Amino acid sequence: MTLRFPEGFLWGAATSAYQIEGGADEGGRGPSIWDTFSHTPGRVIGGDTGDVATDHYHRYRADVGLMESIGLNAYRFSVSWPRVIPDGDGAVNQRGLDFYRRLVDALGEADIEPLVTLYHWDLPQALQDRGGWMRRQTAFDFARYAEVVFGALHDRVTLWSTLNEPYVAAHLGHYAGWHAPGTTDVQAMMSAQHHLLLGHGAAVAAMRAIDPARRQGIVLNLEIPVATGDSPAVLDGTRRVEGLLDRSFTDPVLAGRYPSDVIADLAPARFPVEPGDLEVISTPLDWFGVNYYRQWFITEAGMGDLPLSEFPGCGHVSATTAGQETTDMGWPITPQGLIDVLTWLVDRYPGHPPFMITENGCAFDDPVAEDGTIDDRRRIDYLRRHLAGLHQVIEDGIDVRGYFAWSLLDNFEWASGYSKRFGLIQVDYDTQARTLRNSARWYAGVIAANGIDAPPLR
Ligand code: FCB
Repeated sequence: MTLRFPEGFLWGAATSAYQIEGGADEGGRGPSIWDTFSHTPGRVIGGDTGDVATDHYHRYRADVGLMESIGLNAYRFSVSWPRVIPDGDGAVNQRGLDFYRRLVDALGEADIEPLVTLYHWDLPQALQDRGGWMRRQTAFDFARYAEVVFGALHDRVTLWSTLNEPYVAAHLGHYAGWHAPGTTDVQAMMSAQHHLLLGHGAAVAAMRAIDPARRQGIVLNLEIPVATGDSPAVLDGTRRVEGLLDRSFTDPVLAGRYPSDVIADLAPARFPVEPGDLEVISTPLDWFGVNYYRQWFITEAGMGDLPLSEFPGCGHVSATTAGQETTDMGWPITPQGLIDVLTWLVDRYPGHPPFMITENGCAFDDPVAEDGTIDDRRRIDYLRRHLAGLHQVIEDGIDVRGYFAWSLLDNFEWASGYSKRFGLIQVDYDTQARTLRNSARWYAGVIAANGIDAPPLR
């Protein structure tokens, strides 16, 4: 049975600048916090860095050719702030803008719609030296950078996203310390979160002032945690995780407020809100991006296999993957969670804009067979099951306009370095040779049919 998607559905793949570009010292690019972090011993598995990555900076034309061969009609990538404004708030580096202009032109020739993300975590190090996202001015520096990139590309790019996963930048970067800049402080986390969101709103306003006809959005990573029991500890922990991960981002962006329970839980630390900020942050959007990978099942501390130490105030709970298949990241495979997250958004925010799934995918490392093929049937199964869930949500009347697989090709997976492979396309890091996995061929068939062969999820 073929499950068909709506006419004009966007079928894409996603990447981000630091994860694929390399060319770290080329074309006038300045250092970012991820250069500093990855070059700090002990921060990234294997001491890996994004210095070379997949060398996309030099191979972008061939990579667009690979996208064409899969039949993608959309491609989501991010712009490196330090490639465009090397010190963050000073002179514009025209060579940086030219690179993205050439990329967008190549996509245009291939009839692939670009979706530009302005911030996928690579803050210019010079701004970090002055406080980074903990400093309010960074929000306005971001708006100016957005204006510069938008000015150069808005004639050719319709779809814009300000931030990718501000949760990860603020919480994993400033509380857990697993990501750049590696800070571990609740107040730093809350300041970074608020200034990221303020930067989002300020950037949308700046871009709309130049050209209101483009479509502005944001990308959040959302996963609705499930309580595995009804003990007070489990219910409280589930509420806290949902508050920190989901509501403290969706409420300000879609409803113009921070959730009162999160504010109370985190006191005396606070979101440094000034008058008018929440109006800026909640400026209406043209679309809303959801990155979805997995879902948490919350249990008492000590009962689960995942400690949840990245969530402040959640020492009394853990997450369990018992009975679930997991990927190479150790993440459970939970396609129902994609349905849960979209249903949760629609129920909670009636005035929501149309959705796009801006990332979904899994890490699996399957060997190259003698005939050169890569039989990654677990990835195909993952994608198929999530697409079946997405199809069901669309049938139920939720407005979803596109789907972007993470990732086009294997790349620098942040603190996991090159040890985790998310690509539809395999990269041999010694030679930079690209090989389409079977999942890429399968995805090409999905795009050609505008649908999947699969039983519905329920
Ligand atoms: C998301 C990130 C993306 C990639 C995937 C696996 O959180 O946006 O860059 O690392 O996870």
